[in-house]
Amino acid sequence: MLKAVILVGGPLKGTRFRPLSLDTPKPLFPVAGLPMIQHHIEACSRVPGLKEILILGYYPANDLAQFVSDMAQKYNIGIRYLQEFTALGTAGGLYHFRDQIRFGNPEGFFVFNGDVCADFPLEQMLQYHKSQGNSVITIMATETNKEQALNYGCIARHPKLGHMTHYVEKPSTFVSPLINCGIYFCSTDFFDVLASVFKEKLHNAPSDGVLPKDSGAMQLEQDVFTPLAGSGQASVFVSTRWWSQLKSAGAAVYANRHYLELYKNTHPERLSSGKNIIGDVFIDASAIVHPSAVIGPNVSIGPGANVGPGVRLKDALVLDGASIGSHTIVMHSIVGKNVRIGSWARVEGTPCDPNPNKPFAQMDNLPLFNKDGRLNPSITVLGCSVIVPSEVIVLNSIVLPHKELTRSFKYEIIL
Ligand code: GTP
Repeated sequence: MLKAVILVGGPLKGTRFRPLSLDTPKPLFPVAGLPMIQHHIEACSRVPGLKEILILGYYPANDLAQFVSDMAQKYNIGIRYLQEFTALGTAGGLYHFRDQIRFGNPEGFFVFNGDVCADFPLEQMLQYHKSQGNSVITIMATETNKEQALNYGCIARHPKLGHMTHYVEKPSTFVSPLINCGIYFCSTDFFDVLASVFKEKLHNAPSDGVLPKDSGAMQLEQDVFTPLAGSGQASVFVSTRWWSQLKSAGAAVYANRHYLELYKNTHPERLSSGKNIIGDVFIDASAIVHPSAVIGPNVSIGPGANVGPGVRLKDALVLDGASIGSHTIVMHSIVGKNVRIGSWARVEGTPCDPNPNKPFAQMDNLPLFNKDGRLNPSITVLGCSVIVPSEVIVLNSIVLPHKELTRSFKYEIIL
């Protein structure tokens, strides 16, 4: 029997995803028509023998309760949300809930960062882990270029044995082009490693006998992988399939394109077709799209959305209940829940895709502002319930929820 753990963090995480994470917990933000972590759950549901998924985070349990029960029913798999009493980091929650994870004596368990998106090669990874003898963890890695590797956890891998020989989180100089994907397979012996890291932390804690509230917090990347490297107990599985992080809103448009592309093989029925549909497009069954609207490629339209006549949508996510008036253009943008856009308006951003001219390039996930204090070019994001009147142009801007625009904007954050 196998299990899986999805790390989803909590309300204080996902700051680069604002304003989209202000009204929806980031793990439930829809990409290609499904909440972000439903893609992980769906991939797990395809692994034979995987019987239970535990979602670990510090969101209030109510925020995820409906989703968890919907998923359990849809995929006929055990799914539970385990709430951390405080942010325990990427390893602290695993250790804290070790008895629940070990319950039923699983052969091992996958661990996912909730904010990665990928064509998950889970069965291949499992086979690889089994072939690696006494490894307690197999880490999925992918290749990136020298400059971008510095933004990730970098792994040196033994070329023959496949062991992790060195690990540095966000190094200041180049270490290796192999980066940690935040997807792992662990044997239950991995808890022995976590126990010794935990004991070491306690040993080094202040000696006045009072432990700080976050004393259970541990990070896989800094506290566990660095000492584990070179021990022969951690293996590295190198994936060549698509993988990306979902840190910023721009990354959601990019992830949407790849997940839609994967549907061609896994769920072709989710893709729309028609005279005015171009490329891969997802339209929820309850959305109303006028037949004269030209949609795609890379568009997802959520439940209850309304798209008027002559509208043009490209590289865009239109969320639940949004309405777009006739002849409006929306490109490289995210239209939040219940947004209303009038007629003949234009909402446009700058694509944040990886540089196609650089081999193995990843997205840059730039901060909102550059060194001169100016907004970095990015997709346009309209937060929930924003109103954009007819004939208004919104370019490369971020509009916070519930704002009613009265004029056109470019390169601005509208508070
Ligand atoms: P940044 O680039 O600084 O964001 O680092 P990162 O990509 O390594 O991300 P980070 O380590 O912050 O988080 C990785 C994943 O773990 C994300 O999906 C988070 O939501 C999740 N995570 C982070 N901290 C916690 C935590 O305290 N508890 C739980 N359960 N999950 C967490």
